[in-house]
Amino acid sequence: FSSSQSGKDEYVEYLFRVHTEYRNCLRKNSEVVQYFFDRGFNDREIEEYEFGYCPGGSKIAYEVASKLSLKFSKAIRYGLMRKVESGYVDTFENRIIIPIKDDFGRIVAFGGRTVSNREPKYLNSPETPYFSKRSVLFMFDKAKKAIKGVDFVVVTEGYFDAIAFHRIGVTNAVATLGTSLSEIHLMKLKPLTKNIILCFDSDDAGKRATMSTLKIFLENDFDVAIAQFKEKDPDEVLRKSGADMLKDTLKKALPFEEYIVEFYSKQFELSTTSGTERFLMQLRPWTRLMLSLKKIERYENLLRIISSKTRLSTAQLSEYFKSKAI
Ligand code: GTP
Ligand code: MN
Ligand code: MN
Ligand code: MN
Ligand code: MN
Repeated sequence: FSSSQSGKDEYVEYLFRVHTEYRNCLRKNSEVVQYFFDRGFNDREIEEYEFGYCPGGSKIAYEVASKLSLKFSKAIRYGLMRKVESGYVDTFENRIIIPIKDDFGRIVAFGGRTVSNREPKYLNSPETPYFSKRSVLFMFDKAKKAIKGVDFVVVTEGYFDAIAFHRIGVTNAVATLGTSLSEIHLMKLKPLTKNIILCFDSDDAGKRATMSTLKIFLENDFDVAIAQFKEKDPDEVLRKSGADMLKDTLKKALPFEEYIVEFYSKQFELSTTSGTERFLMQLRPWTRLMLSLKKIERYENLLRIISSKTRLSTAQLSEYFKSKAI
């Protein structure tokens, strides 16, 4: 591998050419077009989001590599094709293709989703010197201007969640590619805004990801609110409840203080002393984080909310949280 500029240019050119073929394959396959219709997309949106399809048994990546005189060993390392007995076959066969772009709008990877319920549900391009999940925020190229303009960013879990927001005109939405928030992600967002609306899935995995991502954002001095919805994820909110409801989830997003108190209060029996103790133990690191960041208003708000859930006054709580002893 060379991580030189020309190496990356060659990689980007190759992915772009293969992607063009996959887009043509989608246009020709009415069943797969129907898959997108079922997910609420129309023809114009299928073009706008540049979806593609890689047919079963295809060797498009091989054919494009031949045309570009790209070494097959390279094409294999780029992750678009693999060797089989009869020759070469596309890695992404039988999957819809979602282009993943860098900050300048160049395709640097593919996300491939099964349309036949095969595992894994999503297959991504491999990590190379030209692409890593920690260095890319999905849709950031289209979102960065809007993020700065409206001074907040909507952070989602999945490709189709970020796209759902863009479809309804909320173009300041991005997705992490199923990975935890990285230093590079933070560096991209920092110059644009300090305000985050977290919009991860409402299932257990999503809730865990919300708590860990929330912590990272707060430690890096961002302000965070958390969107709440009864459906599984933003894409399903749009499909089942419509655009207005999806916009509403942002308007009604909870300040993080309210979210974490609500979150922990569901885990403990607050009518008992020991339940309350364990509840406070969970909240302790968050209060101390606010103190160490000198976010006094946030800290005091947190105390008020905790107080309303317990029989303790804010003064008692403050004494407890400020004490070093556990
Ligand atoms: P849909 O069913 O298409 O709506 O997918 P989803 O985005 O709701 O999927 P899910 O909530 O399961 O996952 C969220 C994100 O994590 C996806 O958009 C992917 O980026 C990533 N992801 C999910 N499943 C897999 C997987 O099996 N492999 C990999 N590499 N990534 C995955
Ligand atoms: Mn999954
Ligand atoms: Mn999920
Ligand atoms: Mn999801
Ligand atoms: Mn989904």
